[in-house]
Amino acid sequence: MFVLRTSVRNPHNRGPGGGHVTAGKHTQVGIVGAGPAGLLLSHLLSLRGIDSVVVEIRSRAYCEARQRAGVLEDGSVRLLREAGLAGRLDREGLEHGGIYLQFAGERHHLDFRDLAGGRTVTVYAQTEVVKDLIARRLADGGALEFEVSGTAVAGLDTGAPVLAYTAADGRRHEITCDVIAGCDGFHGICRTAIPQRQRTVWERDYPYAWLGILAEAPPATDELIYAHHAGGFALHSMRNLQVSKLYLQVGHDARPEDWPEERIWQALQERFALPGWAVKEGPALDIAITPMRSFVGSPMRYGRLFLAGDAAHIVPPTGAKGLNLAVADVAVLADALSDLLLRGDHRLADAYSATCLNRVWRSTHFSWWMTTMLHRTPGADPMEAALQLSQLRYVTTSRAASVTLAENYVGYPPLR
Ligand code: FAD
Ligand code: PHB
Repeated sequence: MFVLRTSVRNPHNRGPGGGHVTAGKHTQVGIVGAGPAGLLLSHLLSLRGIDSVVVEIRSRAYCEARQRAGVLEDGSVRLLREAGLAGRLDREGLEHGGIYLQFAGERHHLDFRDLAGGRTVTVYAQTEVVKDLIARRLADGGALEFEVSGTAVAGLDTGAPVLAYTAADGRRHEITCDVIAGCDGFHGICRTAIPQRQRTVWERDYPYAWLGILAEAPPATDELIYAHHAGGFALHSMRNLQVSKLYLQVGHDARPEDWPEERIWQALQERFALPGWAVKEGPALDIAITPMRSFVGSPMRYGRLFLAGDAAHIVPPTGAKGLNLAVADVAVLADALSDLLLRGDHRLADAYSATCLNRVWRSTHFSWWMTTMLHRTPGADPMEAALQLSQLRYVTTSRAASVTLAENYVGYPPLR
């Protein structure tokens, strides 16, 4: 049974180091992390009349510039639209009705509109989603604290959990909360605040990484191209009609200095080669290497702590699922917390972890499947490539198999 906590009103404590601590502050939901999960949760809660405080270790400029995902499922787009956040997304996002799969020197189109009941995806960068969310939270007077340090959570199994942090001006704060949302990504502090004996973890590291290049060059394709190649996987994505985002499979220990721009473009031209077609090259705006990992932690709730997004799970980016899973988690969490905090009804909160993990495991499987179908495992025998090519042929010729890929890519189960 949910019992509302009473807040501690001792505004001028001494902290553990003797420093000044501002306590006695209360919020309904303390949110750790101003990535897409934390920001969207805080907005969805405010639409329901629930107050929150978001604390973030990075600066606003850093959060708005961090290069990450680029594809929104149709359910994520609808959710953002219904939440009043899609003004720029509707103007600038590029709706894509399918993808290309390239292998054995052929390029095949999968038509999602036909295969997935008219559903599509939209290319709109995570950086833009984050900019839109920050602007809206600040316009609505939301409490957003950037550049904090020493974030800590305590009392998670009590009725009054505490979110503590040092603000950018050096003052230490302790905020009592009704609940805490851990939206602090894979390297955050919230997941590990759950006692180890209470958690189960499934984890797989892949023996390769992605090198991503954001380039000032018009995309040479109308829709994304996922390419299987003997030299390794490649992906042609985009940010808009002037800027391309391309990825190359590289060794898991690759360093940016191993990949001067000339080598990157050469590998991209090789892996996407088709007669009469070439990747359009242009100056690099950003180059980064990302490791590939699958990770699921369960449960996603411990007492008054709820985990959402990368804090709870990580997928390799081949299925474009990471950002969409974060959106789906907070959609479930916003409903669960409004029932809990406004009506004292704990049923959705009690079901939160199982509800989310159902989608998380589907996306984890899909991302693993796309990854292992398209990447070359270092040291693999020739049978690996033969099996991958057989699977790729099946996916591009059998309607049943192409429907499977399409309905997972646009989002399964469809977001309510
Ligand atoms: P995050 O975006 O990680 O946000 C967490 C926030 O919490 C961060 O702002 C962080 O600074 C903050 N934080 C961390 N610790 C603390 C603390 N102690 N106190 C306060 N704040 C804290 N997905 C795709 O679909 N396609 C891609 O191409 C793709 N590329 C990626 C590249 C990289 C390098 C990474 C790391 C992820 C990528 N992803 C990609 C995944 C996708 O970007 C994530 O799934 C998405 O960002 C999840 O959002 P989130 O809000 O859960 O976590
Ligand atoms: C991207 O545009 O960054 C992107 C697109 C599709 C993916 C991964 C990343 O599968």
